[in-house]
Amino acid sequence: MSAAKIFTYKEVAEANGHVIINDKVYDVSEFVNEHPGGDEIIIEFFGQDCTQDFEDIGHSPDAQKTLQKLYVGDVDTTSEKIVKENDASTQSSSEQQPDFKKLVALLIIVAAFLLYKNYSA
Ligand code: HEM
Repeated sequence: MSAAKIFTYKEVAEANGHVIINDKVYDVSEFVNEHPGGDEIIIEFFGQDCTQDFEDIGHSPDAQKTLQKLYVGDVDTTSEKIVKENDASTQSSSEQQPDFKKLVALLIIVAAFLLYKNYSA
């Protein structure tokens, strides 16, 4: 058997339908159509680490066996991690908004305080 391929997080993110579970890389591009839990749930994780979710569901030993068949290599855990843009940014942009407003409010308060100090001196 040839040595396992080593993927960087970037390579996994750019591959078509790969996921990471416990630092191992699996090609689930075809399996998604057969997944008893539905395809979308896995598609969401394409290019990412789904260890937590895979384990939270309590997949059976059968699922573990299926996983072994889909194994394509290991992830280089020292490579730079990739944060998926679409979900993360749509979620955080709505969260960033109030933060940004708070920052502007703070700047106005600081500016007002400095002005006040200047004029009252
Ligand atoms: C990527 C590799 C995965 C494989 C090989 C896999 C395999 C399987 C298999 C064989 C089952 C049938 C039940 C069992 O044997 O445990 C199953 C069920 C299920 N899987 Fe996955 N799964 C994978 C990833 C995921 C992920 C990332 C999620 C996300 C949360 C997920 C969610 C579910 C759910 C909710 C069920 C239950 C379906 C039901 O009982 O109605 N799976 N999976």
